[in-house]
This record gives sequence, structure tokens and C-alpha cells, in this order.
Amino acid sequence: MSELFNRRSAMGFTGGAAGLAYSLMGSHSAVAANLGSADIEPRGTDGILERLPNLDLESYDEFSTSTRVWINTDLNRSAERRAVQILRENGLNPREEMPFEKAVSLLADDPVISFRNHAWQRLQMHMWTELRREFYNNYDAYMSEMEAADNKGPGVLEMSPGIEPEYTKHEIHMQPGGYTGDEFAGHLYHYGTNNFYNGQNYQDERHVSLANAVPVPADGKVMRILDAGSSCGQQVVALKKRFPDAEVWGVDIGAPMVRYSHMRAVDMGVDVNFRHALSEETGFPDGYFDIVTSYLLHHEITEEATYQTIRETERILRPGGVYFPVDVYTNPGRRRIDGTGMRHIRDWMTHRWNHERWWYEYQRADFFGEMERAGMNVIEGGPKTQVSSQVSMNGGIANVIGIKPA
Ligand SMILES: C[S@@+](CC[C@H](N)C(=O)[O-])C[C@H]1O[C@@H](n2cnc3c(N)ncnc32)[C@H](O)[C@@H]1O
Repeated sequence: MSELFNRRSAMGFTGGAAGLAYSLMGSHSAVAANLGSADIEPRGTDGILERLPNLDLESYDEFSTSTRVWINTDLNRSAERRAVQILRENGLNPREEMPFEKAVSLLADDPVISFRNHAWQRLQMHMWTELRREFYNNYDAYMSEMEAADNKGPGVLEMSPGIEPEYTKHEIHMQPGGYTGDEFAGHLYHYGTNNFYNGQNYQDERHVSLANAVPVPADGKVMRILDAGSSCGQQVVALKKRFPDAEVWGVDIGAPMVRYSHMRAVDMGVDVNFRHALSEETGFPDGYFDIVTSYLLHHEITEEATYQTIRETERILRPGGVYFPVDVYTNPGRRRIDGTGMRHIRDWMTHRWNHERWWYEYQRADFFGEMERAGMNVIEGGPKTQVSSQVSMNGGIANVIGIKPA
């Protein structure tokens, strides 16, 4: 069991791809010095994300990630080609508006589309099951590791037990217990997202690229930054790397998510802070932050929570502060969501087969309008970002920015 401890220590990086990857993040030796221990990574790392603790699980993870890549590419394309063909056979133009019920009733039972959906769902369920088995079979070791970090620095962890509203308890992506109801939700989500992101989460790749894209206020002052819905704290750490002098916070409603984030940051020796809180009620003073970011938060909360989050963000930003919310549809196309057959089938797959409970609420929310009503200046053609695994292939899309007037 002891081999499970200190799995995140940088001391075991002795070079090779993992050592190189880590040094790309910056302070390899500084982190090692901070930790001051000489423990050994039992199975090494794949960069920043710890290698899974046994070969069986790692082999399974490789299998499920590569199958996921196949589903996300070839199988998705086959399902979409089939959808186009069926709509045309029924005298419909796939690029024209049509009622949702019509599109789904024509397409749902097709064997290719159906196979894609079932393959997606079963693979995902299986992935969670296998990962969860590991954490619960070694409950004491993983829990002690997390408990040992709770009160350690350099950053702080602030918990508020029992604050989770009902809407935050859904098992989005079929993750057992969701973000709030499983003690190892952070562990599960970190390895799970490596699978979702087609194996591109070993080095915090997208978080580093997002942190580097964050626009700076016009006066150049960046003293405090918040990432809302911070999950495993990857963007929080990446923001601290980019702005080493800033006080950086992450808030998340998942207690296990912030605990995991804090443990990971402690192990990395990175001075960042996490608060268990709602993005719509963060508890920070008025005008506290220079920059507020969020990544893939809004499509997972209710329409009302999105509006409240936007208003809360405006409140905690200082005059001239910048809001950078990255999600699906936070690009200029956000104002032009269509009701074509292809749109319906993609949305239905996401909502029905990936259990994105709040997908339609997010889609119909007047996101940019609420930013304006909250008092922000909305700039639609901001920096390019990579939102999903699909988008990451084409170099990204321009993302909205909200500026609180100076
Ligand atoms: C899809 S994940 C976001 C991914 C994450 N930003 C990252 O960088 O990997 C959604 C996260 O938002 C959190 N969340 C959901 N509703 C929230 C709320 N109202 N306030 C704060 N966090 C919330 C969830 O617990 C979860 O960790």
C-alpha cells in the first residue's frame, strides 16, 4: 500500500519525457526543493498526471482512451454521414431547420447511429467503474493521502459542507456520484478527462494553453485571479505559472473536487487557493479580482445559475477587470444556434447519451445579453481557445471577453 503515497512528488522525475514535460511547466527544481523529500514514483508519470498505480488499470485506460479516440473520430463521422443520408432519403435538407422530434425519430434507431451512442455510453460507464474500483479498493491509502494534504500549504483550502444545491448533484457524463457525491470525484474526473480529451490531459495541455490565452486588463495590473468551476485545479495552477505574483483562487461546488485540487497543488508545491463555493455566490468582496475565468462550467449549470454567475462575476471584478468564460458557444456563433437536423442530433447525443443534464438550458440562455445587462462590455472576437477535443484539432475559435467598465 505504501507505494501509493507521495505519488505526485516531483522528486521521482529523473528525466526522459516526463522530466522534460515537467520542466516545460517551469520550476522543476523549485518544486522539488519545496517538497524536500526523496521519494520515488512507483510507476513513474506521464507528465503531470500520475501514472495509474498498476499495469492492469493503465492498460485498460489506454484501451478505453484509444477506443474513445476512435469513437470521437471515425465512428462519429460515420454516424453523421448516416444521419445526412437518412434525412436526404426522407426528402429533408440536413442543413435546414426542422423540429427536434422529427430529426430524432428519424435518426435514433439507425444501427450506425445507435451503435455510436451505445459504444460511447458503455465505454464511459466502464471507464468510471474501473477507475472507481481502484480508488475504493485502496480507500484508506487514497483517503489518507488526501487528508494529509487538507491542512498543508502553501495555498489554503476552504470547505463549506452542505452548501450544494440539488441541481449540482446530477451525474453528468455518467460519473458515479457526479462532482459532489463521491469522495473520489476529483481523482475520477482527472483520469476521466484524460480519456474525454483523447489522451491530451497528461501535461495540463489545454489548461496551459487556456491560461496563456487569458486577456489581461488594459492597465496591465493582475493581482488576483479566480477560476470558477475549477474541477481538478489544473487551470488554477496554469494561471499561477503564467502570473506568478498573483493570488490565484479556484472555486468549485464539488467538495471532493476542491480537496483533490488542493492536494495536487500542495504536492506540486504551487501556491494557489481553493474554496468550496458556488460560482454564483463566491463569498469574495466586491471588486476583488482583476480576472475571472471559467472553463466548461456554464453548460453544466442551470440557466438561472449561469445568469447569477455572470452577475456575481461582475460584482467581484474590479473596474477594468476581465471575464474570460470559455465553453461551447462562447464564440461569436453563440448568437446563431440553429435548429437543423444535424444540430438536433448532435445535441440529443450530448444530452441523452452523455447525460449533459443542463445542455438545452445553457444553449437557450442569453449568455452575451446577460453579460451586457450585468454591465460588462462584451467583446466577441477575443483570443482563440480550444474548447473540446474536436475543436482542438483546428487551432481554436475566438472567445468572448467581458470587461467591467473602468
Ligand atoms: C466540466 S467541469 C469544468 C472543467 C474545469 N473547469 C477544468 O478546467 O477542467 C464542471 C465543474 O464545475 C463545477 N460546478 C458545477 N456547478 C457549479 C457551481 N454552481 N459553482 C461552482 N462550481 C460548479 C463542477 O463541480 C465541476 O467540477
